[in-house]
Amino acid sequence: MIPTPTNPSDPPLPTAKMVVAKLDLFYGAFQALRQVTMPFAKNHITALIGPSGCGKSTLLRVLNRMNDLIPGVLVQGRVELDGLDIYAPATDVCELRTRVGMVFQRPNPFPLSVRDNVLFGLRVAGVHHRARLDETMERSLRAAWLWDNLKDRLHHPALELPLDQQQRLCVARLLAVSPEVILMDEPCSALDPIATAKIEELMLELKRDYSIVIVTHNMQQAARISDYTGYMLLGDMVEFGDTGRLFTNPADTRTQDYISGRYG
Ligand SMILES: Nc1ncnc2c1ncn2[C@@H]1O[C@H](COP(=O)(O)OP(=O)(O)O)[C@@H](O)[C@H]1O
Ligand SMILES: [Mg+2]
Repeated sequence: MIPTPTNPSDPPLPTAKMVVAKLDLFYGAFQALRQVTMPFAKNHITALIGPSGCGKSTLLRVLNRMNDLIPGVLVQGRVELDGLDIYAPATDVCELRTRVGMVFQRPNPFPLSVRDNVLFGLRVAGVHHRARLDETMERSLRAAWLWDNLKDRLHHPALELPLDQQQRLCVARLLAVSPEVILMDEPCSALDPIATAKIEELMLELKRDYSIVIVTHNMQQAARISDYTGYMLLGDMVEFGDTGRLFTNPADTRTQDYISGRYG
C-alpha cells in the first residue's frame, strides 16, 4: 500500500521505508489518531509538525510500538516496515525496536561511562568480543561526531557531559545496534541554538544511511532539514507532502493558518 501525497502537484514519492495506513489509536475512550495514512521515505527526513497535543509523539511511538507499553492503548490499521505488518502477532518487538530506534526529547544516557552507554545494546544482545565492541564503539561515536571529543574520555561518566554531547551520545548508542529507522521526538528542545545546529547537521548526514522521522514544534527546523512534512491537528493528518511545497503552497487552509502563525 503506497499512500499518495495530499497534493497531486508534488513530485512522486521515493521508496517508502515505513507506511502507516488508516491508523486509529485510542487511549482508553479517547481517540488520539484518526485514519492517519502516510509514508516515511527511505533515506529521507520526514517531519511531523502541529500544535501541542495533536498526536505527533503518539504517531512516532506507533512506528516502533512504544505505545504498547501504555496500558489501555488500542491500535487499529496497518503499519509496515519494508512492506511487512509490524503489528502482526509474529512480530518480535525487541527486534523491531532495534530496527526502529528512538531518540527522546531530553537526552537520557544511562548513569554509566561513555563506553558502557554506547555498548549497552550490543552487550544485552550477548556480544562480548573485545575487538568487535571496540570497533563498534569507535564507528558509532564517529558517526555521531563525538569521537574526537571523547576518545580520551571513554570512561568518563556520561551524565557529566554537556547536554548536546549527551544527546549525540544517545544517537551513538542507537547507531551501535545498526538501526534502519531513527525516530526523534523534539530532539533539540533541551538544546541551545548552537547545539541544535549540530544535531540538525548530523541528521542531514545520517539520512544517507538511515530513514529519519522527527517530531518538532519548530516549523523553521522542519523547513530547514526535512524532505517531507506531515501537518497534524487534533489526531488528523491534515496534509502530507513535499516540505518545500507544503511550506510555500499548502493545499489545505488549516495548514496555511498554522504555518502563517494564525494557529498554535
Ligand atoms: N499515555 C497517555 N494516556 C492518555 N492520553 C494520552 C497519553 N499520551 C498522550 N495522550 C493524549 O493524546 C493526545 C496526543 O498526545 P501527543 O501524541 O503527546 O501529542 P503531541 O506530541 O503532538 O504534543 C493528547 O490529547 C494527549 O493528552
Ligand atoms: Mg509530543
